[in-house]
Amino acid sequence: MDMDKLVSLCKRRGFIFPSSEIYGGINGFWDYGPLGVELKRNIKEAWWRDNVQMRDDMVGLDCSIIMHPKVWEASGHVGGFSDPMVDCRECKGRFRADQMTALVFTDRSGPQGATNPRPLVFSAIGEREDVERENTKAIEKFKKSNAAQAESSGPDVIRLDNLAITDELYALVPCPSCKARGTLTRPRSFNLMFETNIGALEDASSKAYLRPETAQGIFANFKNVVDTGRVKTPFGIGQIGKSFRNEINPRNFIFRSREFEQMEIEFFCHPEESAKWYQYWRDQRFQWYVRHGLRSDRLRLREHDANELAFYSTGTADIEYSFPFGVSELEGIANRGSYDLTQHQKFSGKDLSYFDEERWERDKAGLGLTSFKEYVKKREGEEKPGYPYQYIPHVIEPSAGADRATLAFLCEAYNEDEVGGEVRNVLKFHPRFAPIKAAVFPLVKKDGMPEKAEAIYRDLQRHFPVFFDEKGAIGRRYRRQDEAGTPFGITVDGQTLTDDTVTFRDRDSCRQWRVPLAGVVQAVRDLLEGGPVPSADRPAAAAAAEESDAT
Ligand code: GAP
Repeated sequence: MDMDKLVSLCKRRGFIFPSSEIYGGINGFWDYGPLGVELKRNIKEAWWRDNVQMRDDMVGLDCSIIMHPKVWEASGHVGGFSDPMVDCRECKGRFRADQMTALVFTDRSGPQGATNPRPLVFSAIGEREDVERENTKAIEKFKKSNAAQAESSGPDVIRLDNLAITDELYALVPCPSCKARGTLTRPRSFNLMFETNIGALEDASSKAYLRPETAQGIFANFKNVVDTGRVKTPFGIGQIGKSFRNEINPRNFIFRSREFEQMEIEFFCHPEESAKWYQYWRDQRFQWYVRHGLRSDRLRLREHDANELAFYSTGTADIEYSFPFGVSELEGIANRGSYDLTQHQKFSGKDLSYFDEERWERDKAGLGLTSFKEYVKKREGEEKPGYPYQYIPHVIEPSAGADRATLAFLCEAYNEDEVGGEVRNVLKFHPRFAPIKAAVFPLVKKDGMPEKAEAIYRDLQRHFPVFFDEKGAIGRRYRRQDEAGTPFGITVDGQTLTDDTVTFRDRDSCRQWRVPLAGVVQAVRDLLEGGPVPSADRPAAAAAAEESDAT
């Protein structure tokens, strides 16, 4: 699939626009148009329904975007949430050092293969193949002049965040943008959080941050929810909301942007049960994507190796999707142990432990005790005297991006096929995500057909997002809805006037069948709920001929 085609369809059909486009756009920010806003809302609502409302062990939150700055000290974002950055003094470009690759060729084209002390260095953002692709001509020229020694001339592949690169070599690396040499700074740490100031003064005391993740709002409210929410472990808190990261190289459309939405769960459980819940959530979240149409062979669950894990994590997995630009993370699921609550307990000075009253009540008689105080007193001096009744819960965190999910579902839905001898673009969304569920058309604008069609449209509109279109050839109207991803078309035609039935058309198969007027709402409901698409009762050839009216 060609990413450019998808981006162009998204623009053309009003799914996604570059932000502030009339001013030339702003890198890393995107706007969702009339169809895009419905698509993303449907994805978020499905996530919320399935992960919060339909579960007895989940509740929701909606926290403020700007929080007390100490939250970000406790979470480690002030100290550690940074990327190594390289600046070009010439073109003022800024690049992530860990995403820059340089190829170093030793030049032996001197007389009798003498070595030129200055190697030839090429660079690009990306991997070795990207450097080779962007510098094909120069590399070929170099190889020709070194033909006799090609084997021994390299290249060495280096990443710009490698601190062992000598100053001499570093000075030869060209800027990946303007190609000037000797203009790149050494990598410097750059914090990804957007800063702002609260109130009228702009000084250190007023400094605050736009949240880089929704997770910390959940941790900061853990005690509030326990005290008021009638919850007991194991239970989780879900939140959907905007996050902001000053990404250095926003790229791949909405995959990596500077303002995006997250859908995060923090699931709190007893330390002894965290491994079990980690596996549970990893599998649950993977299946959620499959259920909603991502083909399982384009999805992968990648367990992190031990050396990739954060020091507090005993398990992390990424759900990865094969996007047109490569296999990349869609969602991460991490067993974060007690790290986050412990940090917030330390920084806030508030007790964030959990007391499992049910377990204590069940066990106390067997222990021969009447009060928990006695239990703790008996274990005085131990590291966790209240354990296993009082503890800092362990946390399993399934953390998804709403925009990344939207992109994956768009990529998966995008299809080009042939109908009536013509190529059509169609977005085959899961009906739950489709922005418009059905479109209603009068075949022609006369004989009372528009009035009948509008009555059906009004009736359906009370139940689902629907669309009415009476302009142009019917084939062209079908095609516009195919591009919008509308699963069903309903046409009022000549036969409707005689027998009060309408033509239903299925987006994916283009099959057509008839439904009595009185049963239209129920028929759409059944189809949206996954009911089978009836077999065609209209000859395929006639339907296809009508579709070719599109031209
Ligand atoms: N609380 C954990 C956390 O934020 P993360 O891996 O940094 O973990 C989780 O982010 C998810 O948020 C990612 O899997 C991705 O879907 C989404 N995400 C992160 N950065 C993003 C960006 N710059 N643009 C779009 N989505 C992003």
